[in-house]
Amino acid sequence: MAVSSGLATASFTGPKLESPLLSSSSLSRASPSQLPILFKSTSRHPRHRKLPSLQRGPRCEVLSSSSSSSSSSSSASDVAVVLENENGNADVKSSSVSALELLKTSAADRYTKERSSIVVIGLSVHTAPVEMREKLAIPEAEWPRAIGELCSLNHIEEAAVLSTCNRMEIYVVALSQHRGVKEVTEWMSKTSGIPAADLCEHQFLLYNKDATQHIFEVSAGLDSLVLGEGQILAQVKQVVKVGQGVVGFGRNISGLFKHALTVGKRVRTETNIAAGAVSVSSAAVELALMKLPETSHANARMLVIGAGKMGKLVIKHLVAKGCNKMVVVNRTEERVAVIREELMDVEIIYKPLTEMLNCAAEADVIFTSTASETPLFLKEHVKDLPSINPEVGGLRMFVDISVPRNVGSCVSDLQNACVYNVDDLKEVVAANKEDRLRKALEAQAIIAEESKQFEAWRDSLETVPTIKKLRSYADRIRVAELDKCLSKMGDDISKKTRRAVDDLSRGIVNKLLHGPMQHLRCDGSDSRTLSETIENMHALNRMFSLETEISVLEQKIRAKVEQSQK
Ligand SMILES: NC(=O)c1ccc[n+]([C@@H]2O[C@H](COP(=O)([O-])OP(=O)(O)OC[C@H]3O[C@@H](n4cnc5c(N)ncnc54)[C@H](OP(=O)(O)O)[C@@H]3O)[C@@H](O)[C@H]2O)c1
Repeated sequence: MAVSSGLATASFTGPKLESPLLSSSSLSRASPSQLPILFKSTSRHPRHRKLPSLQRGPRCEVLSSSSSSSSSSSSASDVAVVLENENGNADVKSSSVSALELLKTSAADRYTKERSSIVVIGLSVHTAPVEMREKLAIPEAEWPRAIGELCSLNHIEEAAVLSTCNRMEIYVVALSQHRGVKEVTEWMSKTSGIPAADLCEHQFLLYNKDATQHIFEVSAGLDSLVLGEGQILAQVKQVVKVGQGVVGFGRNISGLFKHALTVGKRVRTETNIAAGAVSVSSAAVELALMKLPETSHANARMLVIGAGKMGKLVIKHLVAKGCNKMVVVNRTEERVAVIREELMDVEIIYKPLTEMLNCAAEADVIFTSTASETPLFLKEHVKDLPSINPEVGGLRMFVDISVPRNVGSCVSDLQNACVYNVDDLKEVVAANKEDRLRKALEAQAIIAEESKQFEAWRDSLETVPTIKKLRSYADRIRVAELDKCLSKMGDDISKKTRRAVDDLSRGIVNKLLHGPMQHLRCDGSDSRTLSETIENMHALNRMFSLETEISVLEQKIRAKVEQSQK
């Protein structure tokens, strides 16, 4: 009898947080009972987070009539507001003071807001089955290419890819939340071959503070199938390592991931979340033992395929459970030799990958954990394997923790095999629910503290647009006055004199700007607080009418569009 991963598919029926390609009216929420992961049901599950008002109200943009650089031309009457209706059609409303007010206070004025949004578009073990996640998985070597492609999208500035066996999450800095999400979803659909509508069914979306909190929880191991497991921290670290020097793994996203590493380490040192923490591989061993008749634990023939990080952990857990003989298949022998040296008392027989099927014929339980992109076991390989002794359950057991899976899904149709994949581990980890909740609570306090710190850091970047606009405002005045002066001086002035006048104008502007610029920086080098710096920013914006300058975001969007049209 074949055992399929019914658990996994049964869990993915709940609605998602938000579907970017559906209208806001069709959004729905999951009830706690619909949530597939036990720990999350009382924690802040992504689908339960409050939808920002942007998702509900009409979308609102400023037409560029107000974008001219002249401050005097920016009265309310110059502002035309485009309200995008539910059908995406634009209604140009007559301008009015209230429209301007709406613009200033609306959470929906995404193009006039100076700050881009951090967005996570993800599918995880809690929301999507392995069948879907494996199609989305991106191997580490491909991350830089993926970042490049994502950042070439019109509304994406920065990006990172977190692709693990439990999750496929794309973190971006988006110039527009709505359009950014749409573009990334379409990109994911194109790269995976999964229709966008299907992705939306299983996708979760989180913005800004919620996205920050999510990656902090992920890094701390709170969102893992196996609470507190350590591999995720190593994977977050790898994202930072691979991202170094990649254009697009920018200041915000790299800052976010670096901070997530700090959180992950803090949670593990300051709480007992990692105490007795298991890993995906130990859960795999637990599952196998749970499914085998107890009397066969000592003599079941164990085969481990793959001797990487996960394979090694599987071997170690098998040994911890009393297994002292096993066959290990790997492409190369080096890694197996290292493991053998570490576990001197255990009989580890190495076989190359070419011997895999022969080894499978002589094994009762087969653990697979390789980084192969294609399945190693297909139906035709398994169907003719000799049968298994009824004392060991009568079925050949495959425990596949690889993503993409190493055991083809069709193998589970066979009568002589039972197949478990990474999603089936839920059965094992569900056992210690109470413990999970208690440990998670301890970690949440640290995460809340660190989230505040990260937000403060992001806020400190908020003055950058004002700095840029003040400089460009001053420079326009300088150039205009310089032109007037040079034309008065006539054509016969020497190059040297021309340069001297130019230098003079620059010198004056730079000296005048030095003070205000100093007061717009809050990098810890002086005693100014962030709130004081933000106050200074608002004051300068008012004094020089900088808010009426063309939005930095808008400039960026225009540059992107121009770039893509080339
Ligand atoms: N790391 C985690 O936290 C984690 C957790 C759960 C599941 N997983 C999944 O477990 C699998 C292995 O992960 P890992 O962290 O152990 O990776 P790893 O340390 O990089 O090891 C990769 C293993 O796969 C083998 N391999 C690579 N390409 C292969 C191919 N084309 N055919 C056959 N074998 C191949 C390697 O053999 P050589 O030694 O000969 O190179 C090595 O044994 C992945 O599918 C991953 O998604 C990982």
